[in-house]
Amino acid sequence: MRMVDIISKKKNGLGLSKEEIEFFVKGITDGSIPDYQASALLMAICLKGMDKEETLNLTLSMAASGDNIDLSEIPGIKVDKHSTGGVGDKTTIILGPIVASLGVPVAKMSGRGLGHTGGTIDKLEAIPSFTTELSQREFVSIVKEIGLAVAGQTGNLVPADKKLYALRDVTATVESIPLIASSIMSKKLASGADCIVLDVKVGSGAFMKTIEEARKLARAMVDIGKGAGLRTVAVITDMDRPLGNTVGNALEVMEAIEVLSENGPDDITEVCIVLAGKMLELAGKGSFDECRTLAGEAIKDGRALRKLKEMIRAQKGREDVVDNIELLPRARYTREYTASSSGYIEAIISDRLGIASMLLGAGRATKESTINPAAGIVLLKKPGDEVKAGEPIIVLHADDENLFQNSVKELDKAVIISVKKPQNANLIMDIIE
Ligand code: URA
Repeated sequence: MRMVDIISKKKNGLGLSKEEIEFFVKGITDGSIPDYQASALLMAICLKGMDKEETLNLTLSMAASGDNIDLSEIPGIKVDKHSTGGVGDKTTIILGPIVASLGVPVAKMSGRGLGHTGGTIDKLEAIPSFTTELSQREFVSIVKEIGLAVAGQTGNLVPADKKLYALRDVTATVESIPLIASSIMSKKLASGADCIVLDVKVGSGAFMKTIEEARKLARAMVDIGKGAGLRTVAVITDMDRPLGNTVGNALEVMEAIEVLSENGPDDITEVCIVLAGKMLELAGKGSFDECRTLAGEAIKDGRALRKLKEMIRAQKGREDVVDNIELLPRARYTREYTASSSGYIEAIISDRLGIASMLLGAGRATKESTINPAAGIVLLKKPGDEVKAGEPIIVLHADDENLFQNSVKELDKAVIISVKKPQNANLIMDIIE
């Protein structure tokens, strides 16, 4: 088999066989296929697409390229969730404890920040002494014992994706539905759960900018999950507005604790109850409506918050942050950002808000940058709220006062105030079964 023939076939819009896809994935993993040929094929896939069977074959080959986590020792149906990423998305820290507190094990491998905001691992590491570096043995044994663990991805989980993602990043081939779907789903398959709930974000702060694109990505991922024999559901949620009121690592952990203490913002609470409901339904805990009720009860009676505390203890963090959020890192300085005119907040553009937060130190400008866990942004007002000129609408948190200026410039582009009250779109936009 020759790589040049495979590239040519895809360039001409033809389907690739299972063997051809396996040849490509094996070659990219062992380094026998040079980057220029891999890049050419990625571009051809980007332009000509892949059908359902090719996308499944690509995902299965990628999932098999490295470690596969064996969760078989953990009794029960294991559920996983994945969010396609968004600004201020702390859902894992809320959902994991809710679902695990209801007896469904959650063994979650998470990543660091993609783009400008911190990932779940960065957020959890804002908890003093919390560790996400668990060996497979430790990871499985914590889930066996308390039903929940969140660990950083092992170095050898889907090595094919690591190479392909790095190439896609620099060859303008990230935005391709078969490539995004196979990248995400290969990591989910290798992580070993029995069912997966996908939270596909749509809007300015997300990969998918329109509901049509989001539906296509959701459908592609659900088809892969089913093709691989896993129960899979995708929930499409709005990311035109930031989720919750905080962006930044410790600030988001505080907000997650608030949601689990029944004190959180309505939008993130609602999204978490729907996602938890779907996770519980897939795990056989009842109908979707019954499972949503169960999720709400786990928050109300404090079970979910206790489960978060257990997880923090098991992962060597300071569990008392749950009772006293003041123990989380706090930035030295804060600055208020005020409304430039009176009216209604029409939009707070999520990706710009993410950049504003990154400029305060909450995200990585480059792969090598370090994150300041205390830095970030708190929204005092959200889209749809009325504001008066000069009224504070955002609070910026940073350890260096010099960082405020550039962040404020970004916020000037992020916040749009208009005279007419805007109509907020539904948070839950669709569910693809
Ligand atoms: N997240 C991933 O893991 N892969 C993609 O291609 C896009 C988002």
